[in-house]
Amino acid sequence: MTFPNQHAAQFPSLHVSSHPLVKHKLTLLCDERTDSKMFRELVRELTALLLYEATLDLPLEESSFRTPLEPTTGSRISTRIGLVPILRAGLGMTDAAIDTLPSSEIWHLGMYRDESTHQPVSYYNKLPASCPDGLVIVLDPMLATGGSANDAISVLKQWGARWIKFVGIIAAPEGVAHVQENHPDVPIHVATLDRELDDNKFIRPGLGDAGDRLFGTASRHLA
Ligand code: PRP
Repeated sequence: MTFPNQHAAQFPSLHVSSHPLVKHKLTLLCDERTDSKMFRELVRELTALLLYEATLDLPLEESSFRTPLEPTTGSRISTRIGLVPILRAGLGMTDAAIDTLPSSEIWHLGMYRDESTHQPVSYYNKLPASCPDGLVIVLDPMLATGGSANDAISVLKQWGARWIKFVGIIAAPEGVAHVQENHPDVPIHVATLDRELDDNKFIRPGLGDAGDRLFGTASRHLA
């Protein structure tokens, strides 16, 4: 089973979900009337659905076990998985990710986007001393200029990560282009590719600021 990449010509590494459940939940998420409680629930639900699509190529190994009736064989995932939520907003995706991939480890990176320069600023790094083999999944709901995702992926590569995926919820074309230019080997999985960035580097039509809406700190008027 594969999911078609509708944007393959322009963005070969981008995968925008076409699943009806994703589209329905995304619409609720972006609606300004959605409060923080519902926003958090929707982020969790979308994360699980997007991870389902992003993990289609996980390797399996045969596993022997007994049902209550007889011995048999099944499958189990044969790679280590590290989840890298980018603080703050990536935290909103972490619970759903660890529920979906319960044997994974969580390694936090802290970054915020400077409001005047729009450049990412790194303030926290909880990567283990050495990079284990396996898949590293970066979690951040928003890919705007792509600066934060780009820097996070660069940090992970310098650390030794060889197999990296980015799972977000909403992306702007400018951000996807930026990440793809520097990291064409990193698949990007999102629920929507929105129209553009505005002059303040907000995604339009967008959903506002995911971190603020997740944590109830929204005070900006974005119109
Ligand atoms: C947001 C978002 C990404 C980043 C995306 O975080 O969660 O990390 O901005 O923007 P970019 O693609 O232009 O780098 P923010 O800086 O608002 O920090 P927060 O998660 O702590 O709210």
